[in-house]
Amino acid sequence: MDIWLIEINRSSSTPLYEQLYQVMKESIIHGNLTVGTKLPSKRKLAELLAISQTTIELAYTQLVAEGFITAIARSGYYTEQVDELSYIDEKRKEIEQIEAVKHSFSIDFNSGHIDIDAFPFNQWRKYAKSLLDDKSRNLLLLGHPQGDLELRQQIASYLYSSRGVRCTPQQVVIGSGTEQLLPLLIRLLGKEAIYAIENPGYPITHHIFANNDRETLAVSVDEDGMKVSDLEHLPATVAYVTPSHQFPTGAILSASRRVQLLNWAANQEGRYIIEDDYDSEFRYVGKPIPSLQGMDHSERVIYISTFSKSLMPSLRIAYLVLPMHLLHAYQQTFPYYSSTVPRLDQHVLSQFMRDGHFSKHLNRMRKLYRKKLEKLTRVLSAYEPSVLISGEQAGMHIVLTIDTKLTDLQLVDLAKQSDIRVYALSEYHRITENFSLKPQVLLGFGGFGEEEIEVCVKALMNTWNIQKG
Ligand SMILES: Cc1ncc(COP(=O)(O)O)c(C=O)c1O
Repeated sequence: MDIWLIEINRSSSTPLYEQLYQVMKESIIHGNLTVGTKLPSKRKLAELLAISQTTIELAYTQLVAEGFITAIARSGYYTEQVDELSYIDEKRKEIEQIEAVKHSFSIDFNSGHIDIDAFPFNQWRKYAKSLLDDKSRNLLLLGHPQGDLELRQQIASYLYSSRGVRCTPQQVVIGSGTEQLLPLLIRLLGKEAIYAIENPGYPITHHIFANNDRETLAVSVDEDGMKVSDLEHLPATVAYVTPSHQFPTGAILSASRRVQLLNWAANQEGRYIIEDDYDSEFRYVGKPIPSLQGMDHSERVIYISTFSKSLMPSLRIAYLVLPMHLLHAYQQTFPYYSSTVPRLDQHVLSQFMRDGHFSKHLNRMRKLYRKKLEKLTRVLSAYEPSVLISGEQAGMHIVLTIDTKLTDLQLVDLAKQSDIRVYALSEYHRITENFSLKPQVLLGFGGFGEEEIEVCVKALMNTWNIQKG
């Protein structure tokens, strides 16, 4: 810690000397001020922080009294060796425990897991290697704030051919994940916007709206997606939806509701739809469902998608497609923001897409995930009617409805006792009015090898004491 950078909050109800004392104490405990560091004189620090010498004296006296610093006559104040390591160790232990809890399940049906064995490392490496060369030294400098044109071009043409999204590369904004782009969008849409969110829905977006102090109204979801008729009775101005594969139920927004939703947005100035198309690449039944953005004639759909499912979640590349009028507002609001995605990663990806590897990868992964899904549904169907599968038309997770008197959270706890992680649907509800009578859990299958699925399902059914039907 740089002692000169201490910040004092004059409007806080905590006395100034106590603030100073706390900051210095924390810095000594955490080793940011090393043992034996000479502290600035009372006069110097008072001048620098523009507070009285008496305030500094009070803080120093308190630190001396508690043994964090020592006063040496005619020399000054020095930091002391403190014996508070147990405190740090406790904190560390806590963090380690959280980490351990996060990773400790031997079977994890996490819907965010992808197949890491099928990643095309060779091709990726080829592009990464060729770019790590002084011929590409230009990439060491900052690029376009919305992301480099090459990648935006690839994304725009991919979106047009595979999702029917109509946009120019200029409308694309690249960022480090949906979770980084949404806050920008929220700021762009202003404080007055009221958001309608799906219930149940994607919890990270719920957190993002809450963290940015935006009002949200929950709208129920049924087997046809968000109930747009309910939305019509609310004062919401922006609807956040996952129409191609509702998260987490797996419902697909029906054709009539799509039209209804677009009309809702078009009917009043300032209304928007945020279309989160996070895993639309993986549709296993029928033709791909075109995006809402492609059906929109009123510039009301803001399209957002990600490479987290199609390539890897750790790549942290997602993108927004802004309607033209919002693009101008975006450029005026954020003129100084550099892209949050490293240019090298942007160029590896754009070349990977340009040379057709992304499409090939998607085709391969779709086949692979389809096989896993078929295996999962085949193995689970042996347990019907005690379990019922839904949401299996797309994506990398299904929903399982279980015929039991237990709640979904009790089912999750039971599974945990056998070192298995499943996810209760109630964990995704913002409000609890609409629970299914029977408990439902989410089973992600992307991270399992096809050959592991049967063993994992059997272990889960054993834990729940569910017999084959
Ligand atoms: C509904 C939804 N939106 C977006 C994402 C991806 O978010 P990000 O781009 O931040 O990885 C996910 C990932 O699981 C998701 O489930």
